Parts: sequence; C-alpha cells; structure tokens
Amino acid sequence: MPSQEHERPFPPGFWWGTATSAHQVEGGNIHNNWWAWEHTRGKINNGDRSGIACDHWHRFSEDFDILQQLHQNAYRFSFEWSRIIPEKGKIDEAAIDHYHSVVSELKKRRIEPFVTLHHFTEPSWFTKLGGIKRKQNICHFREYVELVAREFSKEVTYWTTINEPNIRTAAGYFQGIHPPGETGLLPYLEATRNIIRMHADAYSILKAQEPSNIVGLVKNISIFEPGDATSWQDRLLASIFDYLANGVTLRALKTGKLPLAFFQPYTGLKGSSDFIGLNYYSRLFCSRRFPELLRGRSDNADPTRLCAGLGWEAYPEGLYLSLKRLWRELQVPLVITENGIGTDDDQWRQAFLLQHLYQVHRAIREGVPVQGYFHWSFIDNFEWTEGYASRFGLVDCNRKTLERTIKASGHLYAQIAQENTLPAKFLFQETTLN
Ligand code: GCO
Repeated sequence: MPSQEHERPFPPGFWWGTATSAHQVEGGNIHNNWWAWEHTRGKINNGDRSGIACDHWHRFSEDFDILQQLHQNAYRFSFEWSRIIPEKGKIDEAAIDHYHSVVSELKKRRIEPFVTLHHFTEPSWFTKLGGIKRKQNICHFREYVELVAREFSKEVTYWTTINEPNIRTAAGYFQGIHPPGETGLLPYLEATRNIIRMHADAYSILKAQEPSNIVGLVKNISIFEPGDATSWQDRLLASIFDYLANGVTLRALKTGKLPLAFFQPYTGLKGSSDFIGLNYYSRLFCSRRFPELLRGRSDNADPTRLCAGLGWEAYPEGLYLSLKRLWRELQVPLVITENGIGTDDDQWRQAFLLQHLYQVHRAIREGVPVQGYFHWSFIDNFEWTEGYASRFGLVDCNRKTLERTIKASGHLYAQIAQENTLPAKFLFQETTLN
C-alpha cells in the first residue's frame, strides 16, 4: 500500500486509453478463423459465439463519444485482416473506407489511434492455406501490411504489429484451445518462428513506407513463481516457463535471432520495436506436482476476486516488475497496451485499477519511460474461449439491447485521465488486493 499522502502526477502527454480488438467488439466477422471455431461445439464457454459482439462496426462513432466523455486521448484497436482481404487476392475497398472513417472519427475527437495489425484472428482463406504454420504463407500477411501501410500511414502514427505472439501460437498450436486447435511441439515451434518473422516484416514495411511511423510489438508478460519456494524443482520450472513465455521473444528482439531456431538470424528482426506494448494481467505458480504444473493463483488469493473464468489473481506488483524488466532488457519506451480484470464486481475493478496505476507510477518515478496506459477493455466483449461470461469493460454492454452504460470504474478512470494524476484521496481508499 502507498505510504505517503501525495498525489501522483503522470508525465505530460501520457496516453490514457482503453483497448479492444476487432473480433471481440465489431461483430459479424464471418470471414476469419474464429468464426468457424466458435461454430464448432464445445469450443467456447456456454456455447457463446461472437455474433454481433458489441456491434462496434456500426456503433463506433457513438463509442468514440463515450471515449471522449471519459477524457481519453488514445484508443487501441485492431484492423481485421479478414475484412480488408475477405478472399485470397480480393481487397474490400468498403472495409478500407470503414477504417478510414474510424481513424478520422477518433482524430476529430483528439483521440490518438493505436492500430494493431494482427490480434489473434486470421482470414479463413489463409487458414485453408495452412495459416501461420507454413513459412510460405507469410507473404500474404506482408501483402496485407503493405496495403494498410500505403493506405493509412498518413493518418496513423502508432502501430502495433502482432498482439501477444506467443499466446497466439501456444493457444493455437500447443494447447489447442484456439484455432486451429493443434497440440504438437513442432507446429508450435514453426508457428512461433513464423509469427516473429511476420512481426519483423511488418515493422520493416511500416518504417519503409513512412519513417515517422512508430511501431512496436505487443508482448504479454506473466510472472512465474515457484509454487513452493523451497523446492529447487519448482524454482527450475518457474525459470523454464519464464524463458519460454517471456524470455524467448525478448531475446529475439534483442539479438535478431529467431526463437528456438538454433540462433538463426532473421533480417530486420534486431531492434524491430520502437516501443514495447506490455500486456500485463497476473502471475502463475509452477509446481513439480503434476497435474498442478501451472496454477493461476496463490494459496491465499481470495477466490471471489479472481478473474472470472480465467482464474487469474490480481498481482499489481507484477506490473511494476514487468516494466522494470522490459526497460532493463530492451531499453525502449514502454506503453501498457493491456491491463484489466474480468469481473462482475465493479468495486473490485476500481481497486484493481488504482493499485495497478500506483505500480505504473512507481516504475515511472524510478526512471522507466512509460508513455501510456490502455485499460483492457473499453467495453464488455467477446472474451475468446470464455465467451461473454468474463466482463473486462469499463463500460457495460447489455447483451440484449447492446446499450452502453459507463460503470463506476469508467468514471474513476475518466477522472484520473482528465487530471493526468492519481489523486491521493483515491490511494487511501480501501483498495487492498491481496
Ligand atoms: C489477450 C488479448 C485480449 C484478451 C485479454 C483478456 O491477452 O488474450 O490480447 O484479447 O481479451 O487479454 O484476456
């Protein structure tokens, strides 16, 4: 808990935003691999389907009015590749126009767009060709990025290439819980190398198109701790998981060598991030006692306060530790591109927000160049395998009427953004998390 009664001002020009991704909010994304996946029995909690999602595709202006009301100066969202290129070789000009309107409606409201090129989904035609597992398919991603770079580089400055590359490949190719549902080590390794190649290529394309583009990778960091700190096996497991989930990607950016590929260099990979987007949620405990291998909470975590469905425990200090680590290892500016909690208890979300922002401020005070914070998420949305049950929004979306209602956490966040400060009075409310 904070011990001094001081306000905590953030640096001038700090980005205060929220984040979404196309498939989770737009609705009607019928041409991507998730649409088909959701229509397969047993893949999504409660049999939910993204369906109309939040109908953000049609209601984006109304949504941006809400962002403005919340004093936001930035918004992170993704372009949906399968909308822009719904069939192999076919460009949908109407979709491109749509995203031009999205960008211009944001700018009209002085909200800076942060555009993600790839957030978990791929077009179905690309999946049929073998998806990211096949190296020869990367050229299709490049074509999409070239098109988008040409079209939008005059309007968009901040880009993130791939969202959480290792989650995309681990969930899709190793755990089999995201499409295409594979569970092999070799496909996972191949997909992991390819997605890093895709990132490096996207970086080069955007910079070649417009050198003033500011481009980064979005990396999720989880904290891995030994379940039993006195056990060397648990400690070893924690280091191995940390290396696989966190270290491998950071190392690739640092050295320019592809992950898990016998130190094979890849052109354009070294230093291919003007900033790092950090997604931070929780910590995991590693145990030698199978099947407990990885557990999402400590023994004393309050079970009612875990992230719904996902079981993640709130561990605010982990955000500070992750920021310090990224700065130490990569020496580039940092933007928190996601941080949030899926819960129906909005009081709890408010506490979560304050405690995490306190840790962000702590890192900044110690000299870490953190330039922005994007709360996940703007609005309750389609939480992948959890369907609509895990509600991460600062804004409620009524599932029947799609009516938007700002939650108390949204109002709290708005005040912090407006004042560019964590007011002391908030820090001394009852906000204990652990
Ligand atoms: C991810 C994604 C988001 C999620 C969020 C909550 O990290 O999985 O970037 O799409 O919705 O993280 O799980």
